[in-house]
Amino acid sequence: MASNPLPKTQSALVQTTYAQPLEIKSIPVPDAIPGSAVIKILSTPVVSYAKEVYNGTRKYPYVTPIVPGSSAVGRVAALGPDSTSLKIGQLVHIDCTIHSRDNPDDIILCGLAGGFTEGSQKLMKDVWRDGTWAEYTRVPLEVVFPLNEEKLVGELGYKMSDLATLTRYLVPYGGLKDIGVQVGETVVVAPSTGGFGGAGVACAVAMGASVIAMGRTESKLKALVDTFGARVKTVKITENVEHDSKALTEAAGGPIDAVLEISPSEAAKSTLIKSCINALKRRGRVSFMGGIHEDVPIPIFLVMQKDLVLKGKWMYGRDEILALIKLVEAGMLKIGEKGGIGLKGEYGFVEWEEALDVAFENSRWDAFVVMRP
Ligand SMILES: NC(=O)c1ccc[n+]([C@@H]2O[C@H](COP(=O)([O-])OP(=O)(O)OC[C@H]3O[C@@H](n4cnc5c(N)ncnc54)[C@H](OP(=O)(O)O)[C@@H]3O)[C@@H](O)[C@H]2O)c1
Repeated sequence: MASNPLPKTQSALVQTTYAQPLEIKSIPVPDAIPGSAVIKILSTPVVSYAKEVYNGTRKYPYVTPIVPGSSAVGRVAALGPDSTSLKIGQLVHIDCTIHSRDNPDDIILCGLAGGFTEGSQKLMKDVWRDGTWAEYTRVPLEVVFPLNEEKLVGELGYKMSDLATLTRYLVPYGGLKDIGVQVGETVVVAPSTGGFGGAGVACAVAMGASVIAMGRTESKLKALVDTFGARVKTVKITENVEHDSKALTEAAGGPIDAVLEISPSEAAKSTLIKSCINALKRRGRVSFMGGIHEDVPIPIFLVMQKDLVLKGKWMYGRDEILALIKLVEAGMLKIGEKGGIGLKGEYGFVEWEEALDVAFENSRWDAFVVMRP
């Protein structure tokens, strides 16, 4: 398909000063320089804590002015001259995780977080700053992932808002793959009732594992079993370590193989990590993906004695994105509304404040919010 000329300007959400309210502004449409693609945005997720990111509460490091918004589903609108396989008009997932080309350890989340190294901060400040809360965005070619529209939309009946939830599944999938979760293993997802936790349960089930969903709220845990079926058991967090460790072992019918930890910072004082480590088998694995900023006590003697593997994981890699898209296209992982999460609102960018509020009020595994131009 031939490229239509891009408009000169577009309407976008912009934050001019860190932590200050967003505004709709008319800004230039970027052109496709070498190594990049310009994507027309169709639908973009609003994470439950977006409000706390952009009002400064979470102290995410990013530079302003910025077009916020992370990953999205869209169509290729223009391609840099060095693109060899993407097609104009193709439906794609664009991922916010951008690695420096000459040092892949410098990583940013465009539109969201400027990373933790000098190089990553440079990458955001100088080049890949803007995110997806706009009509068009420019991204590096390597974060553009083709989606099989015929299969996903034609056969499986996904809407663009459903496809915008891919990123919610990618995060826990990154952790589960990083600790090598295998078919038939038993994995604890803790806590499991938040956006990324519930997606972790869905991914682990799709990967052929049995899951123990840990959480504080019984009604939300029950809804996970109702949605994902008999391979999901639940354990309520009581904060009594002895009780919770025993409950995990009983639910698994023996020691557990692996743990995906995805706590918010509010869970810093929870004993869930200790209970999970107690219940792990010898050579068990833990993926730490949560956002706890404080130091957390770890039963280090048990870690030594049981040869445990404790791994941290931020986001995921290209291979995981390709593999997860295949799982969805094969119908093995159902996402969005088909995966049991309800769309609580689909907002235009002008309604950003309501979108962020509704997302915040619905920070639970079975709800999601999107924005679109
Ligand atoms: N590593 C990465 O690449 C990566 C990427 C994205 C996000 N994250 C991190 O993942 C975290 C979780 O995200 P999310 O969207 O799933 O959060 P969320 O939707 O806000 O859910 C929070 C979860 O934590 C539970 N919780 C809250 N306070 C707790 C406490 N005191 N004790 C035990 N459990 C508690 C909630 O339980 P209830 O349901 O009972 O309220 C719920 O299950 C984020 O805060 C972020 O830092 C990491």
